[in-house]
Amino acid sequence: VGKRLLFFQEVGSTMDEALRRAERGTEEGTVVVAETQTASRGRQGRAWVSRTGNLYLSVVLYPSLQTLPYLNSLCGVAVVRAIANISGLKPRIKWPNDILLEGKKVAGVLVESAIAGEQVHHSIIGIGINVALEADEIDEIAGGAISLNHASAGDIPRDELLREILQQLDALYIQLNHGDTPVEEWEELLDTLGQRVKVTWQGEEYVGFADGIDAQGSLLLREDSGTMRTLAAGDATSLR
Ligand code: BTN
Repeated sequence: VGKRLLFFQEVGSTMDEALRRAERGTEEGTVVVAETQTASRGRQGRAWVSRTGNLYLSVVLYPSLQTLPYLNSLCGVAVVRAIANISGLKPRIKWPNDILLEGKKVAGVLVESAIAGEQVHHSIIGIGINVALEADEIDEIAGGAISLNHASAGDIPRDELLREILQQLDALYIQLNHGDTPVEEWEELLDTLGQRVKVTWQGEEYVGFADGIDAQGSLLLREDSGTMRTLAAGDATSLR
């Protein structure tokens, strides 16, 4: 990951820049980084604030169908490790993949894949990290956001953070291809477990107790009716 690194001053979305290259069969591990994005997206069709000063990247991967479910947890672990190594801060994760500091979102992960029959044509993983948000940007972001410079004593060097993320992604992806999944480490970082939560997914709401995750990282929700539900994706809000 990161042998081929493309920098842009401004793009619509690094996801689309990476996608265009994936469709032409670009080298696996190609990385697209942008200073600003004019049409960036988050999970479930949300927008992602993309002004200058933060880190926005997408990576082209060609995973197998077996490894595909692990890309989400792989990214979460890579981002947490990178932030911890560069800043000494200890981020946590809100299922499925909001990276939190002081309970507020510092980074987000988006995985988009194209599957044809039994084969994954490509996956694009997108990572956005709030490195230096301004006060008005923080106000704009629903649900509360925080940036690294806010949470840490000193300024965080973006180039070092990028290098560290790519290194962690690379190491975790090689391990995954050898059958070593990141789920255990990811589970230890999850704040959601043990909480009463509401999960929204495709217009449905599920309320219950976040009992655990399965081997692939899906959330095991014990609904109030007693039904166990396995959710591979969604948005969790903790209810207290
Ligand atoms: C989320 O938490 O909803 C995921 C946010 C992902 C944002 C990143 S920024 C780089 C890449 N390009 C995009 O348009 N989105 C992702």
